Amino acid sequence: MRVPLIAGNWKMNTTVSEAIELVSEMRPLLDQIDDVEKVLYPPFISLAAVGELIRGSSIKLGAQNLYFEEKGAYTGEISPLMLADLCEFAIIGHSERRQYFNETGEIVNKKVQAALKVGLKPILCIGERLDENEAGRTEEIVAEQLRSSLAGVDYPRSLIIAYEPVWAIGTGKAATGKQANETIGFIRRKIAELYSDEIARDMRILYGGSVTVTNATEFMQQPEIDGALVGGASLKASEFVSIVQQTSQIKGRLSEES
Ligand code: 13P
Repeated sequence: MRVPLIAGNWKMNTTVSEAIELVSEMRPLLDQIDDVEKVLYPPFISLAAVGELIRGSSIKLGAQNLYFEEKGAYTGEISPLMLADLCEFAIIGHSERRQYFNETGEIVNKKVQAALKVGLKPILCIGERLDENEAGRTEEIVAEQLRSSLAGVDYPRSLIIAYEPVWAIGTGKAATGKQANETIGFIRRKIAELYSDEIARDMRILYGGSVTVTNATEFMQQPEIDGALVGGASLKASEFVSIVQQTSQIKGRLSEES
């Protein structure tokens, strides 16, 4: 049984004091829901403060990015070793990093390997652009992103995948539950080909892209979708908490039925 996971990617939002305010509002409500894993991804500079405020709760912490070297003359970068001290998870290969910071499959691969090496749990993001989607190339693109990101990774037990179609991110134009479920099912079959049926069965694969309080139920009802990577809606405590609550109710019901 895969434990559902709801991740809040705050992106480049919140000052340190705003981050403290947001997590203080969320903590008591999120902490009551124990059958969904909840992971917050504040900006780097707020990791320590948010980490303090969730200490002793069931809420977990992750970084939005990392560099693949452990230390050295890389001005402005943050290493996996530094993060492993502060948090448990790291987002890798987000489409915004691929698009604005020229992250290639090779760089994403190095980052995945570097994270796993220090025991950070990567959320690897993959997803097609609008033109690729319209040309019917979704499966080809996500298969290639999986292949390049996971080259040489021989034991991805702690890896989580987020399927985030680029055209759905921040646009208010989410995929349908059915579309996302189909692509995530395809991703799971690819993981089985690359590794084993057992690894594919146990791997958590999330959907991301304009997830809101209104459409969260539709995604969580899908059997292949194990949770969500939430952007905009994770910046409002009540909305993020509601998405986690809906996930708990729906996944709880589905597991009782099965
Ligand atoms: P939105 O939920 O704002 O569309 O962002 C999704 C995302 O990119 C999460 O990583």
